[in-house]
Amino acid sequence: MSSKILIVGAAGQIGSELTTKLRSIYGKDNVIASDINYNNTELVNSGIFEIVDAKDYVSLKVCCEKYNIDTIYLMAAMLSATGEKYPMKAWDLNMESLFNVLNLAKAKFVNKIFWPSSIAVFGPTTPKENTPQYTIMEPNTVYGMTKQVGERWCQYYNEKYNVDVRSIRYPGIISWKTLPGGGTTDYAIDIYHKALAEGKYNCFLTEDTELPMMFMDDAIEATVSIMSANSDSIKIRSSYNLSAVSYTPKQVADSIKKHIPDFKISYTPDFRQDIANGWPKSIDDTEARNDWNWNHSFDLKLITNEMLKQLAKN
Ligand code: SER
Repeated sequence: MSSKILIVGAAGQIGSELTTKLRSIYGKDNVIASDINYNNTELVNSGIFEIVDAKDYVSLKVCCEKYNIDTIYLMAAMLSATGEKYPMKAWDLNMESLFNVLNLAKAKFVNKIFWPSSIAVFGPTTPKENTPQYTIMEPNTVYGMTKQVGERWCQYYNEKYNVDVRSIRYPGIISWKTLPGGGTTDYAIDIYHKALAEGKYNCFLTEDTELPMMFMDDAIEATVSIMSANSDSIKIRSSYNLSAVSYTPKQVADSIKKHIPDFKISYTPDFRQDIANGWPKSIDDTEARNDWNWNHSFDLKLITNEMLKQLAKN
């Protein structure tokens, strides 16, 4: 029996590229993309697409039954910066959508779930360098709180109801196809767009704000890899630390200057600086590397090459 996949929030930054990748692996007809509107026309026209509200259990259940879904990737979420503007909306979306898919699995409508957590689960009291898998976690953003408590619920559903839920703590994800929305790490994408369009960028974080980052191809690779691993090898059922590179806005600017020597950067930190100050600088992801053979491919130099090359084409 072929396993059918539902991607919830498929029009987003990660969801859109995950859809393409999963369709190439499992076949177009086995991967159903869903979101709350038809705005992403490329996605809507490239395979099966359904309108599904992640906050609506019935709409999710109907879609799962219609296509005989086996696995859900829940990619809908409100990110850190937008979450600070709309705390209750962020809480409702991030928690209700997670409970909906966990309960679908508990009721055996689906067998397997992917749910992303984030470096935002950590907070100002967490050790910042090589942040370990198990450490102090006192997030001070609503987004981080939803991810931290979400991790607890994932582990709970795994232990109590045997739900096969798998998760990774994504760092900032760098991509050129679909823009991110409302994250604190978004500067690291915007900077390439502005470098090409205007030759300058005004960054909302200070020049030395170091954060963990990852190129989209690595993030998709990690997602596919944890989901195709043998269930016994997934020993952590809250969420895995995941790491590729760490850098500062100044280091990105320097890497861009190697291609665009006249590129200028200025710094005007705003409320997102407070969010970034609470997050780790670098992550220890030994468990992911040991348990399911995670390995990254892209460093900052490769990321910059690829971002400038692909964005220049568009
Ligand atoms: N990229 C996310 C954000 O900045 C972190 O998970 O909110």
